[in-house]
Amino acid sequence: MSGYFIVFEGGEGAGKSTQEALLTEALEERGLTVTRTREPGGTPAGEEIRRVVLSPEFEGLDPRAEALLFAAARGEHVARVIRPALERGEVVICDRYLDSSVAYQGYARGLGPRRIRDLSLWATNELLPDLTIVLDIDPADGLGRFTERDRLEAEPLDYHRQVRAAYLALAEEDPERYLVLDARDDIQAIAAAILARVSGDLEQA
Ligand code: TYD
Repeated sequence: MSGYFIVFEGGEGAGKSTQEALLTEALEERGLTVTRTREPGGTPAGEEIRRVVLSPEFEGLDPRAEALLFAAARGEHVARVIRPALERGEVVICDRYLDSSVAYQGYARGLGPRRIRDLSLWATNELLPDLTIVLDIDPADGLGRFTERDRLEAEPLDYHRQVRAAYLALAEEDPERYLVLDARDDIQAIAAAILARVSGDLEQA
């Protein structure tokens, strides 16, 4: 595969979508073709699954069922959108991916990070990102930015603290495939750091 797969991860309110938009614009200005997408979702079936997993209507959804739904949406997303774009040689920028499941379902819900990772690897036929950008934020700050919360955002603060710790641990294990940035920094400074790293990686690729 000749494309380049970039994932943004981080807690609620970390500013992922702003940075995804800025990176997309910067790469397109350089003549690259970018596919920008998100999880859960990104396909018609995936968007239906998104509605189910995020809706307060399904309060108390069984954690294993929840984990399987995220993995199902991911499998469909990779098969229909992400892998074809990479095969066309494009840059794919995805809001959340497998590490969201590892952090939220594996660690915070207590289902076990290894098992959840394996489930997603099976669902995606082993597709891993080339680079994962973690926008790190204290959940006490991030959640404060929302007034209306979806089912998962409404989880207690401790749940979101575990998610944050999980991302930092994942990044520490594999620094070559991760870039961790402080989400409280200036928006343009964060964008510049991301572009510098991505440009360097693309030149090497
Ligand atoms: P979304 O509104 O997209 O949140 P954000 O803007 O913070 O990305 O909602 C996605 C929610 O789903 C978010 O709370 C994280 C959660 N999630 C999981 O728990 N597991 C997963 O595998 C994914 C992709 C998301």
